[in-house]
Amino acid sequence: MIASECEPYAKSGGLADVVGSLPVALQELGHRVIVILPKYSAVDSIRYGLQPFMSPIGVWMGNAQEWCSAHSAHKQGVAVYFIESKKYFDRWGYYHDPDMNDYLDNARRFGFFTRAALQLCRDMGFRPDILHVHDWQTALGAAYLKIWHWNDPLLGQARSVLTIHNIAHQGVYDRADYEYLGLQWGNFTSDKFEDHGKINMLKGGIHYADMVNTVSPSYANETRTPEGGSGLAPYLNARGDDYIGILNGADYAIWNPETDPLIPANFSRADLGGKAVCKRELQKRFLLDVNPDVPVIGVVSRLAAQKGLDLLAASIEAMVEDMSVQFVVLGSGEKGLSHYFGTLPARYPGKIGSYIGYSEELSHWIEAGSDFFLMPSLYEPCGLNQIYSLRYGTLPIVRATGGLDDTVQQYDERKGTGTGFKFIQPNASALYNTVGWAVSTYFDRKAHLLKMMRAAMAKDYSWNQSARQYERMYLRARSL
Ligand code: ADP
Ligand code: GLC
Repeated sequence: MIASECEPYAKSGGLADVVGSLPVALQELGHRVIVILPKYSAVDSIRYGLQPFMSPIGVWMGNAQEWCSAHSAHKQGVAVYFIESKKYFDRWGYYHDPDMNDYLDNARRFGFFTRAALQLCRDMGFRPDILHVHDWQTALGAAYLKIWHWNDPLLGQARSVLTIHNIAHQGVYDRADYEYLGLQWGNFTSDKFEDHGKINMLKGGIHYADMVNTVSPSYANETRTPEGGSGLAPYLNARGDDYIGILNGADYAIWNPETDPLIPANFSRADLGGKAVCKRELQKRFLLDVNPDVPVIGVVSRLAAQKGLDLLAASIEAMVEDMSVQFVVLGSGEKGLSHYFGTLPARYPGKIGSYIGYSEELSHWIEAGSDFFLMPSLYEPCGLNQIYSLRYGTLPIVRATGGLDDTVQQYDERKGTGTGFKFIQPNASALYNTVGWAVSTYFDRKAHLLKMMRAAMAKDYSWNQSARQYERMYLRARSL
C-alpha cells in the first residue's frame, strides 16, 4: 500500500485513518501488507522508532537517476517504510505551505515518491500481488506498473487498485513535469493523463488501475454524475463494474469510549455516567457555561469548503441567540473560516468555544463530551467523525450526502428510532432547522434521545466487513 498519509505518522484527515487501519484489518484476515509513506520532516522518527533500512535507492525520473533512502518501522505487526528525500519532503507541510498554497512541485514530489516506493519493492525483493494506491498522490503507481514494470520479475504479476478518497483533489499540474514523471507523450490523451492541457494524475490512475473504488456506496453513485464527478464522471463510468464503493471502517481500538485513554472518563452503552463527566470537562475546557442541561454540539473538521462550514458560519450566531445550545469547534484550514471561528468565543462567551489548530486529544474530548456532532458537508466521500460519534453516543446532525447518508439513520419522531438528524438542502436555513429539531428532541423527547444514543452506540462500522470487501476487490483485480 502506497499513500501520502498514515495515522499516527502523518495525518491531515481521514485518509490517514484508513491507511493506518485497513492494513491491520487485512493482516488479521491473513494477508501480508506493507505500507510505504513519504518521510516528511514532521514524521517523528524517535517517537515511532524509525530505523535506517536501505540506502541508497536509485530512482529514474525523466532521463536521470535520483537518490533517496528508506527507513522502517512497525505498526501493529504491519511493516511501514518511509522514503526519505530531503529535496521533496523536508518541508513545513505535506501538500502546501502555511499560507495554504500548494507546493509548486507537487507532481514531482509525489511522482518521485511513487516511483521510489516501487523501486524499494524491487530492491528489497518484495513481490506484491496487489499494489494499492490512494488518491492523486500515488495514483501514478497504477500507471507505472503497466507502463514500466509489466515485464519485471518482481512487479510484473502485480495488479493495482486505486482508492479515491476525494474526487475534488485530482493532482492537476503543468505539463512541463510530464517527462520528469516518466510518462510518454503518446499517453497524454484526454482518456488518460491530459486535462485541458495539463496533467491530471488521478485521471491517469483511473485509466490504468485494474480496479477503482471510493469510500462509500452513495459517493460512488454521486461521482458517476456530472454534478458529483468533478469532471471525471465519464472516465469512472467507462470503468463500469470495475468502479465500486466500499464504506470505510472505524478503528475501534482508537475510537472506543470504554477504553479511550484520552478522554476524562470512560463510559459504555450500559453505563453512560462517564459521558456526563466528559461533557462537564469539555464545557470547562472550552470556557462554556458549565450546565448539564444545555445541549453541546461539537464540530471537528478541516476548515474547507467541502465541509459546509460556510453554512454553519451563516447560522451559528442566530442559533446561539435563538436556542438554548452551545457549540464547540475544533478545526484548521482556510484563513477566513479560521479567523471567523477563532474569534467567535470572545463574541459569545460561555456559548461558543473553539480551538483553531490540530489536536488529537481535543478531537476525542469533543466526540465524547458533546451531545450532538455536526457535519453539514456539501459532499462527503465517507466521513469518519460521524462514525466515531455514533460509538460515543453523540448523535450526528449531517447533510444527507455520500457516506454521511450511508451511515446515519434519520430520526423518526413517531417511533423514536434512528441514529441522527439529516437535512438535504445545502443552505443555512436547513441547517438551522435541523439543529432546532435536534435541540427540541433533547428537551422535549428525552426518551427518544436515549433510545437513539443506545442504537447509535450499538452500530458496528468496524473494518470486519469492509476489509472483506477489499479482499474481494483484490481477488477480482487479480482475476482480470
Ligand atoms: P476528511 O478526511 O475529509 O478530513 P474524515 O471525517 O474522513 O474527513 O476524517 C477526518 C479525520 O481527521 C478524523 O479522524 C478527525 O478526527 C481528524 N481531524 C480533522 N480535523 C482535525 C483537527 N483540527 N484536530 C484533530 N483531528 C482532526
Ligand atoms: C477524504 C474524505 C472523507 C473520507 C476520507 C477517508 O478525506 O473527505 O470523507 O472519510 O477521505 O476515506
